Amino acid sequence: MTIKTKLLATGMFVPENKVTNDDLAKTIDTSDEWIVERTGIKSRHISDPKKAEFPTDMAYKATLQALDKAGLEPNDIDMIIFATVTPDVKIPNSASILQTKLGITNQCACMDIAVACSGFVYGANMANSFIQTGMAKNVLVVGSEMLSTEVDWEDRRICILFGDGCGVGVFGPTPEGESSEVLSSCLGTDGTGRDFFNQYHGGAVSPLTPEIIMKREHFMQMKGTEMFKVATRTLASNAKKVIELAGIKLEDVDWVVPHQANIRIIETTAKLLRVPMDKVIVNIDKYGNTSAATIPMAFHEAIEEGKIKRGDIILMDAFGAGLTHGATLMRF
Ligand SMILES: CC(C)(COP(=O)(O)OP(=O)(O)OC[C@H]1O[C@@H](n2cnc3c(N)ncnc32)[C@H](O)[C@@H]1OP(=O)(O)O)[C@@H](O)C(=O)NCCC(=O)NCCS
Repeated sequence: MTIKTKLLATGMFVPENKVTNDDLAKTIDTSDEWIVERTGIKSRHISDPKKAEFPTDMAYKATLQALDKAGLEPNDIDMIIFATVTPDVKIPNSASILQTKLGITNQCACMDIAVACSGFVYGANMANSFIQTGMAKNVLVVGSEMLSTEVDWEDRRICILFGDGCGVGVFGPTPEGESSEVLSSCLGTDGTGRDFFNQYHGGAVSPLTPEIIMKREHFMQMKGTEMFKVATRTLASNAKKVIELAGIKLEDVDWVVPHQANIRIIETTAKLLRVPMDKVIVNIDKYGNTSAATIPMAFHEAIEEGKIKRGDIILMDAFGAGLTHGATLMRF
């Protein structure tokens, strides 16, 4: 008998410090009007290192919520997939740190995946594969990012876009008699677009030097217009692909949970797909782009608000630096 996968529960956490567009306009040449019109973002939350709001701290709090909802204990988790490009430290991986914070003593498998904004979709599909093959039972998938450390807060082209936050999902086998399942998915990467969004320095090729830091070249760099074009094209084509793979119609999709990078990207994609915006989950106004965390955070809020319900067909659709991309269709 094929094992199906159910998203058992979700959780989220954002740092306390909310930074509005007006706050940013005090230090850089921008305005609330420009940011809202071009991106849809009104505020974002930024971690305070003194309050221990690092990626694994946020993940710890979000996971406790999800475990509570799922009726599980930390030791019921037998795999952690931690999607992040902003790990607490380079070694060990964030999943291992989270394992100890949660008090998990069962030696569960722990891995980080660096897939940028597509991280949660990749993680969910990996969880599905491990569960379907019986290699794992309850898999915790985390998207947690502290992009505020990688953003140049003097560069108005980029700093307005990003925020910190975490969203998690606990996946497990679908109990008998229930209909939850992953219906179809596609994952991909177009490495030729890797220069559209990158951070050259700080790795093996170019370790950080005082000169690089002085020139402020160690921060993330992005070609916004190029990213915008690729994003809309990719999101729309992946959505069509998973719908076709599942053998359903676009009208059968109850909710689209897209990566939250820019409201104009979300709206353009919806238009290309001819999906009305009232079927699209949007929370970019409150949190900005939190990379791997946007989809699980949006998913979580939509459940809490009573929008997404059990049995609904959900499309998760993401793209990110790499350029990685992926979509998943599931019956929640
Ligand atoms: C970054 C982004 C918001 C820029 O919007 P845009 O409409 O393309 O704006 P442009 O880059 O063409 O800039 C237009 C003007 O606004 C200015 N500008 C840029 N940032 C500004 C800001 N924060 N406030 C005010 N003006 C700003 C530019 O300097 C430019 O001025 P100029 O014409 O005098 O040179 C948009 O390209 C975007 O969201 N891209 C995708 C980002 C993305 O997908 N990231 C995902 C990563 S997963």
